[in-house]
Amino acid sequence: MKRYHLVTFGCQMNQHDSDRIRDVLEGSGYAPCETLEHADLVLLNTCSVREKAEQKLRSEVGRLGLLKRTRPDLVLAVAGCVAQQEGERLLRGLPQIDVVIGPDQAAALPRLLAEVEQGGLPQVRTEFDLHEPRFLPAAPRGRAKVSDFVTIMKGCDERCTFCVVPTTRGPERYRASEEIIAEVAARVAAGTREITLLGQTVDSYQDPLGKLPGGQRDEFSATRMGRLQRDETEFPSLLRALAERVPGLQRLRYTSPHPRHLTSALVAAHRELGVLARHVHMPVQSGSDRVLRRMARRYTVAEYRERVGALQRAVPGLTLSSDIIVGFPGETREDFALTLELVREVGFVSVFGFKYSPRPFTPALKLGDDVSEEEKSERLAQLFELSEGQRAAHLARLVGRTEQVLVEGPGERGGYTGRTERNEIVHLQAARDVTGKLVEVTIAEAFKHSLRGTPTDRALLAAEGESGSAGAAAPTAELEPRAATRRSGHRALPLLH
Ligand code: SAH
Ligand code: F3S
Repeated sequence: MKRYHLVTFGCQMNQHDSDRIRDVLEGSGYAPCETLEHADLVLLNTCSVREKAEQKLRSEVGRLGLLKRTRPDLVLAVAGCVAQQEGERLLRGLPQIDVVIGPDQAAALPRLLAEVEQGGLPQVRTEFDLHEPRFLPAAPRGRAKVSDFVTIMKGCDERCTFCVVPTTRGPERYRASEEIIAEVAARVAAGTREITLLGQTVDSYQDPLGKLPGGQRDEFSATRMGRLQRDETEFPSLLRALAERVPGLQRLRYTSPHPRHLTSALVAAHRELGVLARHVHMPVQSGSDRVLRRMARRYTVAEYRERVGALQRAVPGLTLSSDIIVGFPGETREDFALTLELVREVGFVSVFGFKYSPRPFTPALKLGDDVSEEEKSERLAQLFELSEGQRAAHLARLVGRTEQVLVEGPGERGGYTGRTERNEIVHLQAARDVTGKLVEVTIAEAFKHSLRGTPTDRALLAAEGESGSAGAAAPTAELEPRAATRRSGHRALPLLH
């Protein structure tokens, strides 16, 4: 049996695509191989969102090229965004490569590999599946993951001037809502408890078969347009359909949304659907209107504030995280100061900060790259210091509170690791296997990026109970408002099930 070794770079979308590639390979007779040296096929699923990611691919291919000298039968395939972006050109620069496939071509992989193995020329397949978009459902395998991803759309119709994704992932294509609901239901039936809906602009979702109600009026649009616009997305309706039709689903998240589609209907869904996690990642990119305009983000800082503010008011205790680019062409120190101000004001508990990196085929190339590397590093360090401080303060405030932790699996030192309803990582000890269970814990200690909690159920305490001190802090009057107000129509969550 042939064996494959798969290396994944980049975002959650790529992780998810890699899982589908595994399904395809294993369905056609390949077995996974932990070590690169013993594999017959090495596949790199690449990322091109920033220059560094692309450099990584080149050095990795160089390394594999050396391996190929000693093992000429080794097949080397490159998938993902660099493959899509460069296509044939990749072969010219890196002749060791045998197969280049874009993100929409996973299903063609066995055929292309067979060609190469029979002595054919290197194969390149990078068409987008524009006419009949395919969303490969996950193949059932082993124990279901407690938390898993389901793709609902692919591609991006935004044209943020810095971003290569519209080139590498193509235009927006949506998956039929019935298919999404069926896949989520199947995962939940198999034991998955939490689903993250995936898409490049996940909240722009519309059902291609028109099975969902859309078209509510967006109260926020009055700010910009002077009159109420219809919300053209059907994303809030999809969330409602999932909450209603998959009652076993415990938590629902999504990533990554665009602030433009954070409409009043989406805020209402967060207010009313208890299944939605109390954490939203809402990329803002900059706190300066001048920079946002040059990025073509299609919202102002005031609009962003208004929308996330409504979300925060609708869901007590909801936390926000964001993506921010520093050193975008023309970004002055004043612009950057406005970004820091926004980070403070919104109170993001986590910020993914990036130095601007010029990407091929992007409109921002015209704007140059005028902020020095040194200045970018300085701004990134300031952003990091601020956001880390906010994260630390947030985690510290949780000590003593009671939280529902969905346990994802065994963690360090014989314990377990899970996440709160927002998204904080919690380590805990338990006397029996609590993987996949919702465990109520008292937060005992805050670390830099995670928390330690003690189960409130004494029956679970044995493993740690001896220490006596853990979790001694009683829940205080500061306890976060329970979710009762937003649980209308939603089942009460059992402590353990
Ligand atoms: N909506 C997408 C965004 C993809 S890119 C998603 O699914 O996450 C992820 C983040 O990378 C962006 O939000 C942006 O902050 C950053 N990024 C994208 N292009 C960049 C570039 N050219 N330079 C620096 N950062 C970039
Ligand atoms: Fe990129 Fe903007 Fe789309 S960041 S993925 S072009 S929303």
